[in-house]
Amino acid sequence: MIDFKENIAESIIDILENNLKESNISKTDDINKDVIKEYIEKPNNKENGDYAFPCFKIAKTLKKSPQIIANDIKEKIQIDNNVIEKIEVVGGYLNFFVNKKTLIKEVLEEIELKKENYGSSEEGKGKTVIVEYSSPNIAKEFHIGHLRTTVIGAALYNIYKFRGYNTIGINHLGDYGTQFGKMIEGYKRWGNEYNLDENPIEELTKLYIRINDLCKQDEKVLEECRENFKKLENGDEYCVKLWEKFKSLSLKEFDKTYDMLGVKFDSLKGEAFYADKTGEVIDILEKNGKLVESEGAKIVDLSDKGMPPCIICKSNGSSIYATRDLAAILYRARTYDFDKCIYVVAYEQNLHFKQIFEVAKYLSLDKKYTDGLTHVAYGMTRVASGRMSTREGNVIKVNDLLAESIKRVLDVINEKNPEMEEKQENAKKIGIGAVIFNNLCTTIIKDQIFDWNLVLNFNGETGPYIQYIYVRTKSVLEKVEEIPNLKDLDFNLLNDEASLNVIKNLYNLSEILQSVVQKNEPSLLARYLIELAQSYSNFYNENKIICEDKKLQDARVFLTYVTGIVIKAGSKLLGIEMPDKM
Ligand code: ARG
Repeated sequence: MIDFKENIAESIIDILENNLKESNISKTDDINKDVIKEYIEKPNNKENGDYAFPCFKIAKTLKKSPQIIANDIKEKIQIDNNVIEKIEVVGGYLNFFVNKKTLIKEVLEEIELKKENYGSSEEGKGKTVIVEYSSPNIAKEFHIGHLRTTVIGAALYNIYKFRGYNTIGINHLGDYGTQFGKMIEGYKRWGNEYNLDENPIEELTKLYIRINDLCKQDEKVLEECRENFKKLENGDEYCVKLWEKFKSLSLKEFDKTYDMLGVKFDSLKGEAFYADKTGEVIDILEKNGKLVESEGAKIVDLSDKGMPPCIICKSNGSSIYATRDLAAILYRARTYDFDKCIYVVAYEQNLHFKQIFEVAKYLSLDKKYTDGLTHVAYGMTRVASGRMSTREGNVIKVNDLLAESIKRVLDVINEKNPEMEEKQENAKKIGIGAVIFNNLCTTIIKDQIFDWNLVLNFNGETGPYIQYIYVRTKSVLEKVEEIPNLKDLDFNLLNDEASLNVIKNLYNLSEILQSVVQKNEPSLLARYLIELAQSYSNFYNENKIICEDKKLQDARVFLTYVTGIVIKAGSKLLGIEMPDKM
């Protein structure tokens, strides 16, 4: 498909280079095609064309006024009329108007050709990206924060893959820590009083609270717990067996969530996997002279970086969370030879990641790896008041939240469209899709409020709205016998503003996905889908699709057809499925 920006940049760069020569200015960094391409903007106001080049960006280098540069370029530019049909100078800007017929033709042909792969690319070819996401703690509730990392991480995983990266999804389970010494003790004492098979996580939590209380009263019990943990570390059969039981019971619960969300992982290697690999971290840091004794513990001093020290080894000799993360970096560098390793973890852990990324520089790793470490931080979710709000000490269970969403949708269907086929299946797609979309539609670093009235608003900027528009495209297609043949279409019939808006949105998908990857910001795709859906809705309201004029109808039906493809495929990248009916 034509890359309009590329075409514009290409035609500008020659003129600018000549300009440099004529004025005897030695070559500079900003006069090259990639930089020029980056400078090209998309004006908000349609009057200013489809693309604009702000000449003031290069005025300093060329030692000329933006106005003069703009006029000079306009005079000399040679660009195919089939690509750009008009160029205007407004102030220091060059405004470019793309050739509409070419745009329409290119977009329709490309989507028809690539179908649900439209927007995919090879830009990531030969590069490996690890996306670490979800990472809940076993024997603890999967809470609403874990929901957000799961949904964001899965979207990034899909999009990286779509853009040609070799992508590895890792669930870094929190399956290690001294608390398991306590759980083992609790189970030893009262295991038979708890029904772990029915409600494993709830029961394990109760068990944990009980043993914890006892530990506070009785130092001897606490000692037993510490002993259990040591045994667990040393591979004691009984302790390891129990720990495995806790883990598999928890995973069974987590899998219910992952199934509902349609999320998968390539690896479930969690903290425990790295427990026996922390020795090497300590050795390397020691050898590099970075470990300091402090009150019996071993730390890496980070005061010159303005951070508190990173504890590597506690005074009793055991490793901590950070040490296991460092061991994981070593392991992942060797196992996957990654170019990027992305951690989708809440911003509460900003300091932790800053620290370990700093310490990782002392692990004698190739710079490629330490440069590739990226913390993708996301904001907190607070739940608006109501039945699902958090009561003191009572976390919201994600499985309950998802079930509630499906139920609410089902209630609406039963009220408005009780005859609908496959009600349950559709309610599931809508209810889950709504929750996923809600987690992705705002800039991920921002805190968000979870409010059913917003999440399930079919007219708002929501998942259900996008699905609703998709279903509308489907029902248009059902009304006509077959999808018209692209070869017979008259592209000029899609020249009205509403149609062109849809086409322009469709054209932008690839660029949007590129920015998602550049910024690790899946909300850009979510916003994009809203805009696309809104533009289609507007097109639908302005234009009669099924009409007397067969040629006109064919053009409009075809636009409907490709829009449906892109909404569905784009939503799928976010983990949202399309219902058949709504
Ligand atoms: N299990 C941790 C939690 O629930 C998150 C783990 C994040 N990943 C990491 N590599 N530290 O808070």
